[in-house]
Amino acid sequence: MGSLFLIVFFVNYQECLNGIFLRVGPNPKFDPLAGYHWHFLGRVMIHGVRIKDGKATYVSRFVKTSRLQQEEFFGDAKLMKIGDLKGFFGLVMVIMQQLRIKLKVLDDSYGNGTANTSLIYHHGKLLALQETDKPYVIKVLEDGDLQTLGMTDYDKRLTHSFTAHPKVDPVTGEMFTFGCSPMPPYLTYRVISKDGIMHDPVPITISKPVMMHDFAITETYAIFMDLPMHFRPKEMVKEKKMIYSFDPTKNARFGVLPRYAKDDLMIRWFELPNCFIFHNANAWEEEDEVVLITCRLENPNLDMVSGNVEEILESFSNELYEMRFNMKTGSASQKKLSASSNYFPRINECYTGKKNRYVYGYGTFLDGISKVTGIIKLDLHAEAETGKRILQVGGNIKGIYKLGQGIYCSDAIYVPRESAEEDDGYLIFFFHDENTGKSCVHVIDARTMSAEPVAIVELPHRVPYGFHALFVTERQLQEQTLI
Ligand SMILES: [Fe+2]
Repeated sequence: MGSLFLIVFFVNYQECLNGIFLRVGPNPKFDPLAGYHWHFLGRVMIHGVRIKDGKATYVSRFVKTSRLQQEEFFGDAKLMKIGDLKGFFGLVMVIMQQLRIKLKVLDDSYGNGTANTSLIYHHGKLLALQETDKPYVIKVLEDGDLQTLGMTDYDKRLTHSFTAHPKVDPVTGEMFTFGCSPMPPYLTYRVISKDGIMHDPVPITISKPVMMHDFAITETYAIFMDLPMHFRPKEMVKEKKMIYSFDPTKNARFGVLPRYAKDDLMIRWFELPNCFIFHNANAWEEEDEVVLITCRLENPNLDMVSGNVEEILESFSNELYEMRFNMKTGSASQKKLSASSNYFPRINECYTGKKNRYVYGYGTFLDGISKVTGIIKLDLHAEAETGKRILQVGGNIKGIYKLGQGIYCSDAIYVPRESAEEDDGYLIFFFHDENTGKSCVHVIDARTMSAEPVAIVELPHRVPYGFHALFVTERQLQEQTLI
Protein backbone atom coordinates (compact mmCIF):
# COMPACT_ATOMS: atom_id res chain seq x y z
CA MET A 1 0.00 0.00 0.00
CA GLY A 2 1.05 3.54 -0.47
CA SER A 3 2.19 6.19 1.90
CA LEU A 4 0.49 9.33 3.11
CA PHE A 5 1.85 12.73 2.16
CA LEU A 6 0.73 16.21 2.84
CA ILE A 7 0.15 18.27 -0.24
CA VAL A 8 1.77 21.65 -0.19
CA PHE A 9 -0.87 24.10 -1.37
CA PHE A 10 0.04 27.57 -2.42
CA VAL A 11 -3.57 28.71 -2.75
CA ASN A 12 -6.75 27.70 -0.94
CA TYR A 13 -7.60 24.04 -1.24
CA GLN A 14 -10.14 23.35 -3.99
CA GLU A 15 -12.85 20.70 -3.55
CA CYS A 16 -12.61 19.69 -7.21
CA LEU A 17 -9.21 18.14 -6.48
CA ASN A 18 -10.80 15.52 -4.21
CA GLY A 19 -10.46 12.26 -6.12
CA ILE A 20 -7.56 10.25 -7.48
CA PHE A 21 -5.01 11.14 -10.13
CA LEU A 22 -3.83 8.04 -11.96
CA ARG A 23 -1.25 7.36 -14.63
CA VAL A 24 -0.58 4.09 -16.38
CA GLY A 25 2.48 2.83 -18.18
CA PRO A 26 4.82 -0.01 -18.91
CA ASN A 27 6.82 -1.19 -15.97
CA PRO A 28 8.27 -4.56 -17.00
CA LYS A 29 8.54 -7.03 -14.16
CA PHE A 30 10.64 -9.41 -16.27
CA ASP A 31 13.34 -8.85 -18.89
CA PRO A 32 11.87 -8.59 -22.39
CA LEU A 33 12.40 -11.34 -24.97
CA ALA A 34 13.64 -8.90 -27.58
CA GLY A 35 14.87 -5.32 -27.75
CA TYR A 36 13.22 -2.76 -25.53
CA HIS A 37 10.57 -0.64 -27.21
CA TRP A 38 9.12 1.76 -24.69
CA HIS A 39 5.81 2.23 -26.47
CA PHE A 40 4.91 -1.42 -26.86
CA LEU A 41 6.58 -3.20 -24.01
CA GLY A 42 5.76 -4.19 -20.57
CA ARG A 43 3.37 -5.13 -17.87
CA VAL A 44 1.42 -2.25 -16.54
CA MET A 45 1.79 -0.36 -13.35
CA ILE A 46 -0.70 2.25 -12.30
CA HIS A 47 0.63 5.11 -10.21
CA GLY A 48 -2.01 6.94 -8.22
CA VAL A 49 -2.27 9.91 -5.91
CA ARG A 50 -5.47 9.88 -3.87
CA ILE A 51 -6.35 13.40 -2.78
CA LYS A 52 -8.86 13.99 -0.02
CA ASP A 53 -9.34 17.23 1.89
CA GLY A 54 -5.81 18.43 1.28
CA LYS A 55 -4.02 15.16 2.03
CA ALA A 56 -2.47 12.88 -0.56
CA THR A 57 -1.73 9.15 -0.57
CA TYR A 58 0.57 7.67 -3.20
CA VAL A 59 0.09 4.12 -4.43
CA SER A 60 1.55 2.01 -7.24
CA ARG A 61 0.14 -1.36 -8.27
CA PHE A 62 0.60 -3.80 -11.15
CA VAL A 63 -2.57 -4.56 -13.06
CA LYS A 64 -3.06 -8.29 -12.59
CA THR A 65 -3.64 -9.23 -16.21
CA SER A 66 -3.85 -12.82 -17.40
CA ARG A 67 -0.52 -12.14 -19.08
CA LEU A 68 1.19 -11.01 -15.87
CA GLN A 69 -0.17 -13.98 -13.92
CA GLN A 70 1.26 -16.39 -16.52
CA GLU A 71 4.57 -14.58 -16.57
CA GLU A 72 4.73 -14.75 -12.78
CA PHE A 73 4.11 -18.50 -13.04
CA PHE A 74 6.91 -18.97 -15.60
CA GLY A 75 9.18 -16.39 -14.03
CA ASP A 76 9.98 -14.54 -17.24
CA ALA A 77 8.42 -12.74 -20.18
CA LYS A 78 7.06 -15.65 -22.24
CA LEU A 79 4.41 -13.82 -24.23
CA MET A 80 5.31 -11.81 -27.28
CA LYS A 81 4.63 -8.11 -27.62
CA ILE A 82 4.18 -5.83 -30.62
CA GLY A 83 7.68 -4.48 -29.93
CA ASP A 84 9.06 -8.01 -30.58
CA LEU A 85 7.47 -8.18 -34.01
CA LYS A 86 10.29 -6.97 -36.20
CA GLY A 87 12.21 -8.76 -38.94
CA PHE A 88 12.74 -12.53 -39.05
CA PHE A 89 12.84 -12.63 -35.25
CA GLY A 90 9.26 -11.34 -35.26
CA LEU A 91 8.17 -14.33 -37.35
CA VAL A 92 9.93 -16.70 -34.94
CA MET A 93 8.09 -15.03 -32.05
CA VAL A 94 4.69 -15.51 -33.75
CA ILE A 95 5.39 -19.21 -34.43
CA MET A 96 6.70 -19.81 -30.89
CA GLN A 97 3.66 -18.17 -29.33
CA GLN A 98 1.22 -20.17 -31.49
CA LEU A 99 3.04 -23.39 -30.59
CA ARG A 100 2.98 -22.60 -26.86
CA ILE A 101 -0.77 -21.90 -27.01
CA LYS A 102 -1.39 -25.13 -28.97
CA LEU A 103 0.64 -27.15 -26.46
CA LYS A 104 -1.32 -25.41 -23.64
CA VAL A 105 1.88 -23.99 -22.16
CA LEU A 106 0.26 -20.59 -22.53
CA ASP A 107 -3.41 -19.72 -22.21
CA ASP A 108 -4.69 -16.85 -24.35
CA SER A 109 -8.36 -17.40 -23.56
CA TYR A 110 -8.29 -14.37 -21.25
CA GLY A 111 -6.29 -12.28 -23.70
CA ASN A 112 -2.61 -11.48 -23.73
CA GLY A 113 -2.71 -7.72 -23.40
CA THR A 114 -0.83 -5.58 -20.95
CA ALA A 115 -3.53 -2.97 -20.21
CA ASN A 116 -0.66 -0.49 -20.18
CA THR A 117 -1.85 2.39 -22.35
CA SER A 118 -4.69 4.37 -20.86
CA LEU A 119 -7.49 4.59 -18.30
CA ILE A 120 -11.11 5.60 -18.57
CA TYR A 121 -13.99 5.81 -16.15
CA HIS A 122 -17.50 4.81 -17.27
CA HIS A 123 -20.62 3.54 -15.52
CA GLY A 124 -19.01 3.17 -12.12
CA LYS A 125 -15.99 1.35 -13.45
CA LEU A 126 -12.39 2.37 -13.87
CA LEU A 127 -10.93 0.55 -16.90
CA ALA A 128 -7.27 -0.06 -17.79
CA LEU A 129 -6.90 -0.33 -21.55
CA GLN A 130 -4.60 -1.53 -24.28
CA GLU A 131 -5.76 -1.65 -27.87
CA THR A 132 -4.99 -5.33 -28.51
CA ASP A 133 -7.10 -6.66 -25.66
CA LYS A 134 -10.28 -6.22 -23.64
CA PRO A 135 -10.52 -3.78 -20.71
CA TYR A 136 -9.45 -4.64 -17.16
CA VAL A 137 -11.67 -3.33 -14.36
CA ILE A 138 -9.79 -1.69 -11.50
CA LYS A 139 -11.41 -0.74 -8.22
CA VAL A 140 -10.16 2.26 -6.29
CA LEU A 141 -10.55 1.56 -2.58
CA GLU A 142 -11.42 4.33 -0.13
CA ASP A 143 -7.80 4.69 0.98
CA GLY A 144 -6.64 4.97 -2.64
CA ASP A 145 -5.37 1.41 -3.04
CA LEU A 146 -6.00 -0.20 -6.43
CA GLN A 147 -7.46 -3.65 -6.88
CA THR A 148 -7.68 -5.52 -10.20
CA LEU A 149 -11.19 -7.00 -10.44
CA GLY A 150 -10.49 -8.69 -13.79
CA MET A 151 -11.18 -8.47 -17.49
CA THR A 152 -14.62 -7.38 -18.67
CA ASP A 153 -16.36 -8.57 -21.84
CA TYR A 154 -19.66 -6.73 -21.23
CA ASP A 155 -21.65 -9.91 -20.55
CA LYS A 156 -19.90 -11.77 -23.39
CA ARG A 157 -20.94 -9.10 -25.91
CA LEU A 158 -17.36 -7.95 -26.48
CA THR A 159 -15.53 -10.46 -28.66
CA HIS A 160 -12.84 -8.23 -30.14
CA SER A 161 -10.18 -5.84 -28.92
CA PHE A 162 -11.06 -2.46 -27.42
CA THR A 163 -9.31 0.81 -28.23
CA ALA A 164 -7.24 2.56 -25.56
CA HIS A 165 -9.15 5.77 -26.42
CA PRO A 166 -12.91 5.33 -26.13
CA LYS A 167 -14.95 8.53 -25.76
CA VAL A 168 -17.53 9.28 -23.10
CA ASP A 169 -20.20 11.79 -24.10
CA PRO A 170 -20.45 14.19 -21.15
CA VAL A 171 -24.13 14.89 -21.89
CA THR A 172 -25.61 11.45 -22.64
CA GLY A 173 -23.18 9.42 -20.49
CA GLU A 174 -22.70 6.90 -23.31
CA MET A 175 -19.29 5.48 -24.16
CA PHE A 176 -18.24 5.04 -27.80
CA THR A 177 -15.47 2.64 -28.71
CA PHE A 178 -14.00 0.43 -31.42
CA GLY A 179 -11.62 -2.45 -31.92
CA CYS A 180 -9.18 -3.32 -34.71
CA SER A 181 -8.20 -6.77 -35.88
CA PRO A 182 -5.65 -8.22 -38.33
CA MET A 183 -8.50 -10.43 -39.62
CA PRO A 184 -11.81 -9.18 -41.14
CA PRO A 185 -13.70 -7.27 -39.99
CA TYR A 186 -10.63 -5.10 -39.53
CA LEU A 187 -12.65 -2.46 -37.68
CA THR A 188 -15.67 -2.84 -35.40
CA TYR A 189 -17.52 0.07 -33.79
CA ARG A 190 -19.49 -0.22 -30.52
CA VAL A 191 -21.74 1.98 -28.43
CA ILE A 192 -22.10 1.36 -24.69
CA SER A 193 -25.15 2.89 -22.99
CA LYS A 194 -24.85 5.05 -19.89
CA ASP A 195 -26.02 1.97 -17.99
CA GLY A 196 -23.07 -0.06 -19.23
CA ILE A 197 -24.92 -2.13 -21.86
CA MET A 198 -22.88 -2.80 -24.99
CA HIS A 199 -24.91 -2.50 -28.19
CA ASP A 200 -24.50 -4.79 -31.21
CA PRO A 201 -21.24 -4.64 -33.18
CA VAL A 202 -21.07 -2.38 -36.24
CA PRO A 203 -18.41 -3.76 -38.61
CA ILE A 204 -16.83 -1.04 -40.75
CA THR A 205 -15.31 -1.96 -44.08
CA ILE A 206 -11.73 -0.89 -44.70
CA SER A 207 -9.45 -2.53 -47.26
CA LYS A 208 -6.55 -3.55 -45.00
CA PRO A 209 -5.78 -4.04 -41.32
CA VAL A 210 -4.37 -0.81 -39.92
CA MET A 211 -3.11 0.63 -36.67
CA MET A 212 -5.93 2.91 -35.46
CA HIS A 213 -4.99 4.26 -32.05
CA ASP A 214 -7.74 6.83 -31.56
CA PHE A 215 -10.99 8.13 -33.03
CA ALA A 216 -13.38 10.98 -32.24
CA ILE A 217 -17.05 11.74 -31.70
CA THR A 218 -19.26 14.75 -32.30
CA GLU A 219 -22.86 15.12 -31.10
CA THR A 220 -24.02 13.29 -34.27
CA TYR A 221 -21.06 11.37 -35.68
CA ALA A 222 -18.19 9.02 -34.96
CA ILE A 223 -14.97 9.67 -36.93
CA PHE A 224 -12.60 6.81 -37.85
CA MET A 225 -9.08 7.12 -39.26
CA ASP A 226 -8.04 4.67 -41.99
CA LEU A 227 -4.42 5.77 -42.15
CA PRO A 228 -1.70 3.96 -44.08
CA MET A 229 0.02 2.41 -41.05
CA HIS A 230 -0.61 -1.11 -42.26
CA PHE A 231 -0.30 -4.50 -40.61
CA ARG A 232 2.25 -6.11 -42.94
CA PRO A 233 3.68 -9.39 -41.65
CA LYS A 234 5.37 -10.22 -44.99
CA GLU A 235 7.24 -6.92 -45.07
CA MET A 236 8.21 -7.45 -41.43
CA VAL A 237 10.23 -10.50 -42.45
CA LYS A 238 11.39 -9.37 -45.92
CA GLU A 239 12.28 -5.77 -45.11
CA LYS A 240 13.17 -6.21 -41.40
CA LYS A 241 10.46 -3.76 -40.43
CA MET A 242 8.07 -3.69 -37.51
CA ILE A 243 4.82 -5.55 -38.11
CA TYR A 244 3.06 -2.21 -38.64
CA SER A 245 4.71 -0.01 -41.24
CA PHE A 246 3.77 3.23 -42.95
CA ASP A 247 3.01 3.37 -46.69
CA PRO A 248 3.79 6.93 -47.88
CA THR A 249 2.12 6.28 -51.27
CA LYS A 250 -1.36 6.09 -49.76
CA ASN A 251 -3.65 8.93 -48.68
CA ALA A 252 -5.10 9.34 -45.21
CA ARG A 253 -8.81 8.42 -45.11
CA PHE A 254 -11.33 9.66 -42.55
CA GLY A 255 -14.71 7.97 -42.21
CA VAL A 256 -17.64 9.91 -40.71
CA LEU A 257 -20.49 7.68 -39.53
CA PRO A 258 -23.76 8.68 -37.81
CA ARG A 259 -22.94 7.60 -34.27
CA TYR A 260 -26.02 5.41 -33.77
CA ALA A 261 -25.71 3.69 -37.17
CA LYS A 262 -26.44 -0.05 -37.15
CA ASP A 263 -24.13 -0.69 -40.12
CA ASP A 264 -21.62 1.26 -42.21
CA LEU A 265 -23.90 2.05 -45.19
CA MET A 266 -24.10 5.72 -44.16
CA ILE A 267 -20.37 6.24 -43.67
CA ARG A 268 -18.80 9.06 -45.70
CA TRP A 269 -15.08 8.77 -46.47
CA PHE A 270 -12.82 11.79 -46.96
CA GLU A 271 -9.21 11.83 -48.18
CA LEU A 272 -6.32 14.06 -47.15
CA PRO A 273 -2.55 13.87 -47.79
CA ASN A 274 -0.93 10.90 -46.10
CA CYS A 275 -0.12 11.09 -42.44
CA PHE A 276 -0.41 9.09 -39.28
CA ILE A 277 -2.28 10.14 -36.15
CA PHE A 278 -1.94 8.73 -32.68
CA HIS A 279 -4.20 11.18 -30.86
CA ASN A 280 -7.09 13.49 -31.55
CA ALA A 281 -7.91 16.45 -29.30
CA ASN A 282 -11.63 16.82 -30.08
CA ALA A 283 -14.22 17.02 -32.84
CA TRP A 284 -17.49 18.86 -33.36
CA GLU A 285 -19.95 20.00 -36.02
CA GLU A 286 -20.19 23.45 -37.63
CA GLU A 287 -23.12 23.73 -40.07
CA ASP A 288 -22.31 21.27 -42.91
CA GLU A 289 -18.81 20.55 -41.64
CA VAL A 290 -17.32 18.10 -39.19
CA VAL A 291 -14.21 19.58 -37.57
CA LEU A 292 -11.42 17.41 -36.17
CA ILE A 293 -8.58 18.83 -34.05
CA THR A 294 -5.76 16.33 -34.21
CA CYS A 295 -2.03 15.68 -33.87
CA ARG A 296 -0.78 14.91 -37.35
CA LEU A 297 2.51 13.05 -37.93
CA GLU A 298 4.44 13.06 -41.17
CA ASN A 299 6.88 10.27 -42.03
CA PRO A 300 6.08 8.21 -38.97
CA ASN A 301 8.25 5.25 -38.11
CA LEU A 302 7.23 3.30 -35.05
CA ASP A 303 10.84 2.33 -34.43
CA MET A 304 11.70 5.98 -34.02
CA VAL A 305 9.37 6.56 -31.11
CA SER A 306 12.27 5.29 -29.05
CA GLY A 307 14.96 6.99 -31.16
CA ASN A 308 17.16 9.93 -30.29
CA VAL A 309 16.28 13.57 -30.69
CA GLU A 310 18.39 14.30 -33.79
CA GLU A 311 16.80 11.44 -35.74
CA ILE A 312 13.36 12.51 -34.66
CA LEU A 313 13.75 16.15 -35.61
CA GLU A 314 15.22 15.31 -39.01
CA SER A 315 12.42 13.11 -40.23
CA PHE A 316 9.50 13.21 -37.87
CA SER A 317 6.93 15.90 -37.22
CA ASN A 318 3.90 15.88 -34.95
CA GLU A 319 1.82 19.02 -35.35
CA LEU A 320 -1.60 20.11 -34.22
CA TYR A 321 -4.00 20.38 -37.18
CA GLU A 322 -7.59 21.37 -37.83
CA MET A 323 -9.26 19.11 -40.40
CA ARG A 324 -12.66 19.85 -41.92
CA PHE A 325 -14.95 17.37 -43.65
CA ASN A 326 -17.91 18.85 -45.55
CA MET A 327 -20.83 16.45 -45.30
CA LYS A 328 -22.70 18.26 -48.10
CA THR A 329 -19.97 18.64 -50.73
CA GLY A 330 -17.73 15.71 -49.76
CA SER A 331 -14.65 17.95 -49.69
CA ALA A 332 -11.92 17.84 -47.03
CA SER A 333 -9.34 20.42 -45.97
CA GLN A 334 -6.69 20.82 -43.31
CA LYS A 335 -4.82 23.65 -41.59
CA LYS A 336 -1.72 23.53 -39.40
CA LEU A 337 -2.17 25.02 -35.93
CA SER A 338 1.23 24.64 -34.28
CA ALA A 339 4.89 23.82 -34.60
CA SER A 340 5.92 20.24 -34.11
CA SER A 341 5.80 18.52 -30.74
CA ASN A 342 2.22 18.28 -29.49
CA TYR A 343 1.82 14.75 -28.39
CA PHE A 344 -0.94 13.82 -25.91
CA PRO A 345 -3.54 16.56 -26.46
CA ARG A 346 -6.05 17.14 -23.66
CA ILE A 347 -9.17 19.28 -23.32
CA ASN A 348 -11.76 20.08 -20.70
CA GLU A 349 -13.67 16.81 -21.25
CA CYS A 350 -17.00 18.49 -20.49
CA TYR A 351 -16.56 19.59 -24.14
CA THR A 352 -15.94 16.17 -25.72
CA GLY A 353 -17.81 16.18 -29.06
CA LYS A 354 -18.70 19.87 -28.74
CA LYS A 355 -16.93 22.96 -30.03
CA ASN A 356 -14.22 23.96 -27.61
CA ARG A 357 -11.57 26.62 -27.46
CA TYR A 358 -8.56 25.34 -25.51
CA VAL A 359 -6.23 22.41 -26.09
CA TYR A 360 -3.53 21.44 -23.60
CA GLY A 361 -0.70 19.33 -24.85
CA TYR A 362 2.67 18.55 -23.74
CA GLY A 363 5.63 19.90 -25.52
CA THR A 364 8.91 18.20 -26.13
CA PHE A 365 10.90 21.39 -26.82
CA LEU A 366 13.83 19.67 -28.51
CA ASP A 367 14.49 17.20 -25.70
CA GLY A 368 13.26 14.11 -27.50
CA ILE A 369 9.82 12.74 -28.07
CA SER A 370 9.66 10.59 -24.97
CA LYS A 371 10.91 13.28 -22.61
CA VAL A 372 8.42 16.03 -22.05
CA THR A 373 9.75 19.30 -20.76
CA GLY A 374 6.63 21.40 -20.58
CA ILE A 375 2.92 21.82 -21.07
CA ILE A 376 1.31 24.17 -23.56
CA LYS A 377 -2.07 25.85 -23.71
CA LEU A 378 -3.35 26.50 -27.19
CA ASP A 379 -6.27 28.81 -28.06
CA LEU A 380 -8.21 27.60 -31.11
CA HIS A 381 -9.83 31.05 -31.47
CA ALA A 382 -6.45 32.70 -32.11
CA GLU A 383 -4.44 32.57 -35.30
CA ALA A 384 -1.35 30.38 -35.42
CA GLU A 385 1.99 32.10 -35.94
CA THR A 386 3.27 30.25 -38.96
CA GLY A 387 6.90 29.46 -39.65
CA LYS A 388 7.89 28.63 -36.08
CA ARG A 389 9.93 25.46 -35.73
CA ILE A 390 9.55 25.17 -31.98
CA LEU A 391 6.74 26.03 -29.60
CA GLN A 392 6.86 29.54 -28.16
CA VAL A 393 4.26 31.76 -26.52
CA GLY A 394 2.53 33.99 -29.09
CA GLY A 395 -0.22 33.60 -31.65
CA ASN A 396 -2.41 30.72 -30.57
CA ILE A 397 0.07 29.49 -27.93
CA LYS A 398 -1.31 31.18 -24.82
CA GLY A 399 1.02 29.70 -22.27
CA ILE A 400 3.85 27.28 -21.67
CA TYR A 401 4.60 25.74 -18.30
CA LYS A 402 8.27 24.77 -18.54
CA LEU A 403 9.76 22.35 -16.07
CA GLY A 404 13.44 23.23 -16.28
CA GLN A 405 16.63 21.45 -17.27
CA GLY A 406 16.49 17.70 -16.75
CA ILE A 407 12.88 17.68 -15.47
CA TYR A 408 10.32 15.73 -17.47
CA CYS A 409 6.60 15.17 -17.09
CA SER A 410 3.87 12.99 -18.52
CA ASP A 411 0.23 13.31 -19.58
CA ALA A 412 -1.38 16.38 -17.98
CA ILE A 413 -5.07 16.08 -17.15
CA TYR A 414 -7.49 18.98 -17.00
CA VAL A 415 -9.56 19.08 -13.79
CA PRO A 416 -12.47 21.55 -14.08
CA ARG A 417 -13.70 23.71 -11.23
CA GLU A 418 -17.44 24.30 -10.75
CA SER A 419 -17.62 27.02 -13.34
CA ALA A 420 -19.07 27.62 -16.79
CA GLU A 421 -15.71 28.87 -18.06
CA GLU A 422 -13.92 26.32 -20.25
CA ASP A 423 -10.45 27.01 -18.89
CA ASP A 424 -11.33 27.62 -15.23
CA GLY A 425 -9.56 24.62 -13.79
CA TYR A 426 -6.26 22.90 -13.13
CA LEU A 427 -3.76 20.71 -14.91
CA ILE A 428 -2.34 17.85 -12.89
CA PHE A 429 0.64 15.68 -13.86
CA PHE A 430 3.57 13.61 -12.63
CA PHE A 431 7.09 14.80 -13.24
CA HIS A 432 10.54 13.49 -12.51
CA ASP A 433 13.66 15.53 -11.80
CA GLU A 434 16.63 13.66 -13.21
CA ASN A 435 19.01 16.04 -11.38
CA THR A 436 17.76 15.06 -7.92
CA GLY A 437 16.04 11.72 -8.62
CA LYS A 438 12.81 13.06 -7.11
CA SER A 439 9.33 12.58 -8.54
CA CYS A 440 6.40 14.88 -7.82
CA VAL A 441 2.87 15.68 -8.78
CA HIS A 442 2.25 19.26 -9.79
CA VAL A 443 -1.09 21.04 -10.00
CA ILE A 444 -1.03 24.21 -12.09
CA ASP A 445 -3.58 26.87 -12.97
CA ALA A 446 -4.89 26.10 -16.46
CA ARG A 447 -6.29 29.57 -16.93
CA THR A 448 -3.12 31.54 -16.24
CA MET A 449 -0.50 28.82 -16.92
CA SER A 450 1.44 30.58 -14.19
CA ALA A 451 4.97 29.33 -13.53
CA GLU A 452 4.00 29.06 -9.84
CA PRO A 453 2.25 25.73 -9.20
CA VAL A 454 -1.00 25.68 -7.24
CA ALA A 455 0.07 22.56 -5.35
CA ILE A 456 2.92 20.07 -5.14
CA VAL A 457 3.01 16.50 -3.83
CA GLU A 458 6.54 15.15 -3.31
CA LEU A 459 6.62 11.39 -3.86
CA PRO A 460 8.74 8.80 -2.03
CA HIS A 461 10.49 7.37 -5.07
CA ARG A 462 10.88 7.70 -8.82
CA VAL A 463 7.74 7.33 -10.90
CA PRO A 464 8.87 6.12 -14.34
CA TYR A 465 7.73 7.89 -17.50
CA GLY A 466 4.55 6.42 -18.87
CA PHE A 467 1.54 6.86 -21.07
CA HIS A 468 -1.91 8.23 -20.35
CA ALA A 469 -3.39 9.61 -17.16
CA LEU A 470 -6.86 10.17 -15.75
CA PHE A 471 -8.41 12.09 -12.90
CA VAL A 472 -11.30 10.25 -11.22
CA THR A 473 -13.49 12.62 -9.24
CA GLU A 474 -14.74 12.03 -5.69
CA ARG A 475 -18.28 11.59 -7.04
CA GLN A 476 -17.06 8.92 -9.48
CA LEU A 477 -15.16 7.13 -6.70
CA GLN A 478 -18.31 6.97 -4.56
CA GLU A 479 -20.31 5.80 -7.60
CA GLN A 480 -18.11 2.68 -7.87
CA THR A 481 -19.87 1.12 -4.88
CA LEU A 482 -23.37 2.05 -6.01
CA ILE A 483 -23.29 0.32 -9.41
FE1 LIG B 1 -2.63 6.94 -26.72
